[in-house]
Amino acid sequence: MTTQADISAEIAVLAEEYARTGVDETGVRLDYPPYRSSLLRHPTKSPVQVDPEGVEPWSPVFGERDVGPLEADLTIQRGGEPVGERMKVAGRVLDGDGRPVRRQLVEVWQANAAGRYIHQRDQHPAPLDPNFVGMGRCLTDDDGGYEFTTIKPGPYPWRNHHNAWRPAHIHFSLFGTDFTQRLVTQMYFPGDPLCALDPISQSIVDPRARQRLVATYDHDLTEAEWCTGYRWDIVLTGSAATPVEEEE
Ligand SMILES: [Fe+2]
Repeated sequence: MTTQADISAEIAVLAEEYARTGVDETGVRLDYPPYRSSLLRHPTKSPVQVDPEGVEPWSPVFGERDVGPLEADLTIQRGGEPVGERMKVAGRVLDGDGRPVRRQLVEVWQANAAGRYIHQRDQHPAPLDPNFVGMGRCLTDDDGGYEFTTIKPGPYPWRNHHNAWRPAHIHFSLFGTDFTQRLVTQMYFPGDPLCALDPISQSIVDPRARQRLVATYDHDLTEAEWCTGYRWDIVLTGSAATPVEEEE
């Protein structure tokens, strides 16, 4: 049985190897052996190049009017109030030059305060919350800003190795201007001791790049007698990106 100590030792070896290279590697490493459950299913080939216009006719579509303002509040989707720490998470979506990325569909999904998802595959013995679905969405405003009101998610166990726990996180999706641009990532919370043990967050081997997935606590966003506040900006590549060769 693989233990957390085994996984942590592998993470440490890979981190040392990375530090020795002296080369910046800011993306997610797809082939990252401590993330056992991805070994047989991570992509091994380059993405297939498609013509976006050919994909559009049968891709998901949405209109700006489809997204209602109440959908950004995950605490009002059922008849009562969900259990847990009420919090806001807010930030801006920016391009590589710091310009706001406006009218972007931002979607989130997360576990409840007990670390449980409403999903058939999640059957671990933590309670479901009848007042919490764990999904929300909004469009960024003129300033590239987004804001969700939710409940702080709990950590949850997974079966990567014995006694494996995911740090508390919120999944984010950015749709882009068409389906082929969709980006998916996870936001973590500051000071979470589980991040260092987690092969998913550690599969970003660069410590500074990894830190970009961690929100900051923001007392100006915190509301008296109501909720705590976390800030997390999402920066996309921009015109300062290094040119890459076109694929054949
Ligand atoms: Fe998750």
